[in-house]
Amino acid sequence: MQHPQTLSLPEPDAESAMHSDCVAEFIRDRIRDAGGQISFAEYMHHCLYAPGLGYYSAGSAKFGAAGDFVTAPEVSSLFGIILSRQCAEILAQIDSPAILEIGAGSGKLAADLLKGLADCGALPEQGYKILDVSADLRERQASFLRRHVPELLNRVEWLNALPEDFSGVVIANEVLDALPVERFVRREQCIAQVCVVTDGDEFSLVETEAPAMLIEAVEKIEAFLGQSLPSGYASEVCVAAPRWAADICGSLRDGAAFLFDYGTSRREYYAAQRSGGWLRCHYRHHAHDNPLILQGIQDLTSWVDFTAVAEAAVDNGLDIAGFVTQAQFLIGGGLDNYLADFAELPTDAQLKLSAEIKLLTLPAEMGENFKCLGISRGNLQPPTAFEFGDRTTSLG
Ligand SMILES: C[S@@+](CC[C@H](N)C(=O)[O-])C[C@H]1O[C@@H](n2cnc3c(N)ncnc32)[C@H](O)[C@@H]1O
Repeated sequence: MQHPQTLSLPEPDAESAMHSDCVAEFIRDRIRDAGGQISFAEYMHHCLYAPGLGYYSAGSAKFGAAGDFVTAPEVSSLFGIILSRQCAEILAQIDSPAILEIGAGSGKLAADLLKGLADCGALPEQGYKILDVSADLRERQASFLRRHVPELLNRVEWLNALPEDFSGVVIANEVLDALPVERFVRREQCIAQVCVVTDGDEFSLVETEAPAMLIEAVEKIEAFLGQSLPSGYASEVCVAAPRWAADICGSLRDGAAFLFDYGTSRREYYAAQRSGGWLRCHYRHHAHDNPLILQGIQDLTSWVDFTAVAEAAVDNGLDIAGFVTQAQFLIGGGLDNYLADFAELPTDAQLKLSAEIKLLTLPAEMGENFKCLGISRGNLQPPTAFEFGDRTTSLG
């Protein structure tokens, strides 16, 4: 396979470079143990989640200016405040509800949501639960919440697994894109799986015979599209995403989930002109497409096929509450209410707020590529943030 192009990236400092060498060594050992190759999904899993080593398991900065990327809650507290009003609408319709945030990152969204809910008198009776695979991030979330919302910390509980029976609101911002993806290539007579091999210290990609689960996943996509993908077409499929969504649906007895991420409908995801796929690597605010370097110190991520997530929800008995862009969610959720006193703000605050709103809502920034899929169970009023520009029909 063609080796992806590597742009000129900042040099890691000595400590990060040493850490990355350890992660690379760990992965080389896994490849050797597996007889010479591992699937791309397994490689991505080790890069991100190898215990004590992976990008999310170890202690690098990740979020914000000092890290590798910014997420909507890191850009502005407005994101969490508007979302808190949407949560309040759902919580008011449910007995004994809780909030469950999956993949809470730095803890910034949790702090904003807790403050927003407290401000409108809607703190959930059963508290705020966080489920995160990263022990390092769980500690950082606790420390962030201790510093920023000490009076609300006693409402927060960290879970080790999804609750068996949950009523309330589930939130996940940029978690689906962090689930490992399989990479494949459509060949004339078969579907090839992309695997990772080593040659000395170097990693490279090879095509091998795909296992049944990958063939099935790609054939499902082709059946949906009503035609085979063209020969040579390369892309990703996240077999973990429908399972992840199904697990959430299994846990959600009554309530709704807001799933935010960059992604699109399956039809657009696998459009002919999109051969090459959607995998991106983020290192110190540089986006590039070489996942075979900087193991454990760069983020690997792929866009989300929201049709796959919506299908899993419907198959598990949930309804689609709405599918909107992040800009539409924020506008439908009442962004303008938070701008009522804009003219009275000092100039520097006005400039800061305008910059945040631009980043969150402009189509060329996060406004259009980021979407929110809402799924719900029970007889709930649809959240108002889905009233404007719903594009659920694009998922079919
Ligand atoms: C890209 S970060 C997003 C963090 C945060 N939600 C934000 O918007 O800033 C992904 C987060 O999801 C967590 N994560 C990844 N896979 C997960 C899973 N299967 N279950 C729970 N948390 C997960 C990571 O540890 C990390 O906290």
